[in-house]
Amino acid sequence: MKLMFIGDVVGSPGRKMIDEYLPKLKKKYNPAVTVVNGENAAGGKGITEKIYKRFLEKGAQAVTLGNHSWDNKEIFSFIDNAPLLVRPANYPDGTPGQGYKIIKVNQLEIGIINLMGRTFMPANDDPFRKADEIIEQIKKRTPIIFVDFHAEATSEKQALGWYLDGRVSAVIGTHTHVQTADERILPSGTAYQSDVGMTGPLDGILGMEKESVLNKFLTNLPVRFEVDKGREQLNGILIHFDPSNGRAQAAERIHISDETPFYE
Ligand SMILES: [Fe+2]
Ligand SMILES: [Fe+2]
Repeated sequence: MKLMFIGDVVGSPGRKMIDEYLPKLKKKYNPAVTVVNGENAAGGKGITEKIYKRFLEKGAQAVTLGNHSWDNKEIFSFIDNAPLLVRPANYPDGTPGQGYKIIKVNQLEIGIINLMGRTFMPANDDPFRKADEIIEQIKKRTPIIFVDFHAEATSEKQALGWYLDGRVSAVIGTHTHVQTADERILPSGTAYQSDVGMTGPLDGILGMEKESVLNKFLTNLPVRFEVDKGREQLNGILIHFDPSNGRAQAAERIHISDETPFYE
Protein backbone atom coordinates (compact mmCIF):
# COMPACT_ATOMS: atom_id res chain seq x y z
CA MET A 1 0.00 0.00 0.00
CA LYS A 2 1.09 3.55 -0.59
CA LEU A 3 0.98 6.89 1.18
CA MET A 4 1.71 10.05 -0.78
CA PHE A 5 2.89 13.20 0.97
CA ILE A 6 3.19 16.60 -0.73
CA GLY A 7 5.43 19.25 0.86
CA ASP A 8 4.65 22.80 1.92
CA VAL A 9 2.24 24.36 -0.57
CA VAL A 10 3.27 28.01 -1.01
CA GLY A 11 0.69 30.59 -2.12
CA SER A 12 -1.24 30.60 -5.39
CA PRO A 13 1.59 29.01 -7.43
CA GLY A 14 1.56 26.06 -5.01
CA ARG A 15 -2.22 25.80 -5.09
CA LYS A 16 -2.11 25.84 -8.88
CA MET A 17 0.29 22.86 -8.82
CA ILE A 18 -2.02 20.98 -6.43
CA ASP A 19 -5.03 21.67 -8.68
CA GLU A 20 -3.20 20.51 -11.76
CA TYR A 21 -1.10 17.61 -10.50
CA LEU A 22 -2.63 16.12 -7.36
CA PRO A 23 -5.40 14.35 -9.30
CA LYS A 24 -2.84 13.16 -11.89
CA LEU A 25 -0.45 11.91 -9.22
CA LYS A 26 -3.28 10.06 -7.50
CA LYS A 27 -4.22 8.44 -10.77
CA LYS A 28 -0.64 7.45 -11.53
CA TYR A 29 0.35 6.10 -8.10
CA ASN A 30 -3.03 5.21 -6.57
CA PRO A 31 -2.01 5.91 -2.95
CA ALA A 32 -4.35 4.69 -0.20
CA VAL A 33 -3.82 7.98 1.57
CA THR A 34 -2.59 11.42 0.54
CA VAL A 35 -1.36 14.09 2.94
CA VAL A 36 -0.54 17.71 2.03
CA ASN A 37 1.37 20.21 4.17
CA GLY A 38 -0.55 23.49 3.85
CA GLU A 39 1.23 25.80 6.29
CA ASN A 40 2.15 28.35 3.57
CA ALA A 41 -0.88 27.86 1.32
CA ALA A 42 -2.54 31.28 1.89
CA GLY A 43 -0.21 33.91 0.40
CA GLY A 44 2.81 32.10 1.87
CA LYS A 45 1.53 32.27 5.45
CA GLY A 46 -1.09 30.03 6.99
CA ILE A 47 -4.22 28.51 5.48
CA THR A 48 -7.89 29.43 4.99
CA GLU A 49 -10.94 27.20 5.19
CA LYS A 50 -11.51 27.50 1.45
CA ILE A 51 -7.97 26.30 0.70
CA TYR A 52 -8.20 23.46 3.22
CA LYS A 53 -11.42 22.27 1.59
CA ARG A 54 -9.93 22.63 -1.86
CA PHE A 55 -7.03 20.30 -0.94
CA LEU A 56 -9.54 17.71 0.25
CA GLU A 57 -11.55 18.09 -2.98
CA LYS A 58 -8.40 17.55 -5.02
CA GLY A 59 -7.68 14.31 -3.18
CA ALA A 60 -5.92 14.94 0.15
CA GLN A 61 -7.17 12.98 3.16
CA ALA A 62 -5.30 15.09 5.69
CA VAL A 63 -3.62 18.52 5.76
CA THR A 64 -0.70 19.21 8.10
CA LEU A 65 0.69 22.55 9.26
CA GLY A 66 3.81 24.04 10.91
CA ASN A 67 5.24 27.23 12.37
CA HIS A 68 2.95 29.32 10.11
CA SER A 69 -0.23 27.64 11.43
CA TRP A 70 -1.62 30.81 12.99
CA ASP A 71 -0.41 33.41 10.46
CA ASN A 72 -3.76 33.66 8.72
CA LYS A 73 -6.18 34.53 11.52
CA GLU A 74 -9.08 32.84 9.74
CA ILE A 75 -7.75 29.54 11.11
CA PHE A 76 -9.15 30.25 14.57
CA SER A 77 -12.68 30.31 13.13
CA PHE A 78 -12.52 26.85 11.51
CA ILE A 79 -9.71 24.71 12.98
CA ASP A 80 -11.99 23.09 15.53
CA ASN A 81 -14.43 22.15 12.77
CA ALA A 82 -11.77 20.83 10.39
CA PRO A 83 -11.49 17.11 11.20
CA LEU A 84 -8.68 16.49 8.71
CA LEU A 85 -6.46 19.45 9.63
CA VAL A 86 -3.49 18.58 11.86
CA ARG A 87 -1.37 21.26 13.56
CA PRO A 88 1.91 20.60 15.42
CA ALA A 89 1.15 18.31 18.38
CA ASN A 90 3.79 19.80 20.64
CA TYR A 91 2.26 23.27 20.82
CA PRO A 92 1.50 24.15 24.45
CA ASP A 93 -1.58 22.61 26.07
CA GLY A 94 -4.70 24.65 25.39
CA THR A 95 -3.74 25.48 21.78
CA PRO A 96 -6.71 25.17 19.35
CA GLY A 97 -6.94 22.20 17.02
CA GLN A 98 -5.40 18.76 17.26
CA GLY A 99 -1.87 17.47 16.78
CA TYR A 100 -2.81 14.08 15.44
CA LYS A 101 -5.72 12.38 13.73
CA ILE A 102 -6.63 8.82 12.92
CA ILE A 103 -8.19 8.72 9.48
CA LYS A 104 -10.04 5.80 7.98
CA VAL A 105 -9.59 4.79 4.36
CA ASN A 106 -11.35 1.61 3.14
CA GLN A 107 -11.41 -0.09 6.56
CA LEU A 108 -7.78 0.88 7.11
CA GLU A 109 -6.88 3.26 9.92
CA ILE A 110 -3.88 5.55 9.56
CA GLY A 111 -2.50 7.85 12.22
CA ILE A 112 -1.26 11.24 11.03
CA ILE A 113 0.99 13.20 13.41
CA ASN A 114 2.42 16.70 12.94
CA LEU A 115 5.33 17.73 15.19
CA MET A 116 7.55 20.80 15.22
CA GLY A 117 11.27 20.90 15.96
CA ARG A 118 12.85 23.11 18.62
CA THR A 119 16.25 23.86 17.11
CA PHE A 120 16.19 27.37 15.56
CA MET A 121 12.39 27.30 15.94
CA PRO A 122 9.91 28.82 18.42
CA ALA A 123 9.96 27.18 21.86
CA ASN A 124 7.47 24.33 22.06
CA ASP A 125 7.03 21.18 24.10
CA ASP A 126 9.45 18.29 23.55
CA PRO A 127 8.57 16.64 20.20
CA PHE A 128 10.27 13.37 21.19
CA ARG A 129 8.27 12.79 24.38
CA LYS A 130 5.12 14.10 22.68
CA ALA A 131 5.63 11.54 19.91
CA ASP A 132 5.93 8.77 22.56
CA GLU A 133 2.64 9.82 24.11
CA ILE A 134 0.73 10.01 20.85
CA ILE A 135 2.15 6.80 19.38
CA GLU A 136 1.06 4.91 22.48
CA GLN A 137 -2.49 6.15 21.86
CA ILE A 138 -2.55 5.48 18.12
CA LYS A 139 -0.97 2.00 18.46
CA LYS A 140 -4.08 0.84 20.30
CA ARG A 141 -5.89 1.18 16.98
CA THR A 142 -3.39 0.95 14.13
CA PRO A 143 0.30 0.29 13.41
CA ILE A 144 0.25 2.62 10.38
CA ILE A 145 1.52 6.01 11.53
CA PHE A 146 2.81 8.91 9.44
CA VAL A 147 4.82 11.73 11.03
CA ASP A 148 5.32 15.14 9.35
CA PHE A 149 8.25 16.59 11.32
CA HIS A 150 8.30 20.33 10.70
CA ALA A 151 11.82 21.33 11.69
CA GLU A 152 14.82 23.38 10.64
CA ALA A 153 17.84 21.29 11.65
CA THR A 154 18.63 18.09 9.76
CA SER A 155 20.25 16.72 12.94
CA GLU A 156 17.01 17.08 14.88
CA LYS A 157 15.11 15.49 12.00
CA GLN A 158 17.50 12.52 11.80
CA ALA A 159 17.34 12.19 15.58
CA LEU A 160 13.55 11.87 15.51
CA GLY A 161 13.79 9.44 12.59
CA TRP A 162 16.08 7.13 14.58
CA TYR A 163 14.10 7.66 17.77
CA LEU A 164 10.90 6.49 16.08
CA ASP A 165 12.43 3.81 13.83
CA GLY A 166 10.28 0.70 14.06
CA ARG A 167 7.47 2.52 15.85
CA VAL A 168 6.01 4.52 12.93
CA SER A 169 5.75 3.99 9.18
CA ALA A 170 7.44 7.25 8.23
CA VAL A 171 9.15 10.36 9.59
CA ILE A 172 9.25 12.92 6.78
CA GLY A 173 10.64 16.43 7.26
CA THR A 174 9.05 19.68 6.15
CA HIS A 175 9.77 23.40 6.65
CA THR A 176 13.11 23.95 4.91
CA HIS A 177 11.38 23.84 1.48
CA VAL A 178 14.34 22.14 -0.24
CA GLN A 179 13.89 18.49 -1.18
CA THR A 180 16.68 16.34 0.24
CA ALA A 181 17.99 13.23 -1.53
CA ASP A 182 18.33 11.12 1.63
CA GLU A 183 15.08 9.16 1.49
CA ARG A 184 15.60 5.68 2.89
CA ILE A 185 14.05 2.92 4.95
CA LEU A 186 15.66 2.78 8.38
CA PRO A 187 16.60 -0.73 9.63
CA SER A 188 13.46 -1.30 11.72
CA GLY A 189 11.06 -0.24 8.95
CA THR A 190 10.53 3.50 9.16
CA ALA A 191 10.72 5.57 5.96
CA TYR A 192 12.80 8.70 6.49
CA GLN A 193 13.58 11.87 4.53
CA SER A 194 15.03 15.06 5.99
CA ASP A 195 12.86 17.32 3.87
CA VAL A 196 10.18 16.52 1.31
CA GLY A 197 10.57 19.95 -0.36
CA MET A 198 7.99 22.60 -1.20
CA THR A 199 5.22 23.03 -3.76
CA GLY A 200 5.09 26.47 -5.35
CA PRO A 201 7.55 28.83 -7.01
CA LEU A 202 10.62 27.22 -8.59
CA ASP A 203 12.79 30.30 -9.13
CA GLY A 204 12.25 32.23 -5.90
CA ILE A 205 14.05 31.73 -2.59
CA LEU A 206 12.09 29.10 -0.62
CA GLY A 207 9.02 30.33 -2.51
CA MET A 208 9.48 34.08 -2.00
CA GLU A 209 10.57 36.66 -4.62
CA LYS A 210 14.33 36.48 -4.76
CA GLU A 211 14.81 40.28 -5.03
CA SER A 212 13.19 40.93 -1.65
CA VAL A 213 15.07 38.09 0.08
CA LEU A 214 18.36 39.24 -1.48
CA ASN A 215 17.65 42.78 -0.34
CA LYS A 216 17.22 41.46 3.21
CA PHE A 217 20.61 39.73 3.06
CA LEU A 218 22.29 42.76 1.51
CA THR A 219 20.88 45.45 3.81
CA ASN A 220 19.35 43.73 6.86
CA LEU A 221 16.55 46.32 6.65
CA PRO A 222 12.95 45.21 7.25
CA VAL A 223 11.65 43.80 3.96
CA ARG A 224 8.23 42.50 3.03
CA PHE A 225 8.45 39.10 1.32
CA GLU A 226 5.97 38.29 -1.46
CA VAL A 227 5.34 34.90 -3.05
CA ASP A 228 7.31 34.60 -6.31
CA LYS A 229 5.19 34.57 -9.47
CA GLY A 230 7.51 32.72 -11.86
CA ARG A 231 7.71 29.04 -12.78
CA GLU A 232 6.38 26.38 -10.40
CA GLN A 233 7.42 23.07 -8.87
CA LEU A 234 5.82 20.28 -6.83
CA ASN A 235 7.70 18.08 -4.39
CA GLY A 236 6.52 15.03 -2.54
CA ILE A 237 7.29 11.47 -1.55
CA LEU A 238 5.58 8.14 -2.11
CA ILE A 239 5.93 5.63 0.71
CA HIS A 240 5.13 1.96 0.20
CA PHE A 241 4.16 0.14 3.39
CA ASP A 242 2.84 -3.20 4.61
CA PRO A 243 -0.67 -2.53 5.94
CA SER A 244 -0.51 -5.53 8.31
CA ASN A 245 2.29 -4.10 10.45
CA GLY A 246 2.81 -0.53 9.17
CA ARG A 247 6.42 -1.16 8.14
CA ALA A 248 7.70 0.88 5.23
CA GLN A 249 9.08 -1.04 2.27
CA ALA A 250 10.22 1.66 -0.14
CA ALA A 251 10.22 5.42 -0.59
CA GLU A 252 10.38 7.36 -3.86
CA ARG A 253 10.80 11.11 -4.24
CA ILE A 254 8.37 13.02 -6.43
CA HIS A 255 9.51 16.19 -8.20
CA ILE A 256 7.66 18.02 -10.96
CA SER A 257 8.84 21.22 -12.66
CA ASP A 258 9.54 22.61 -16.13
CA GLU A 259 12.94 20.98 -15.88
CA THR A 260 11.53 17.60 -14.76
CA PRO A 261 8.15 17.17 -16.45
CA PHE A 262 5.43 14.83 -15.22
CA TYR A 263 4.70 11.67 -17.16
CA GLU A 264 1.29 10.04 -16.73
FE1 LIG B 1 6.85 25.91 4.95
FE1 LIG C 1 7.62 26.19 8.23
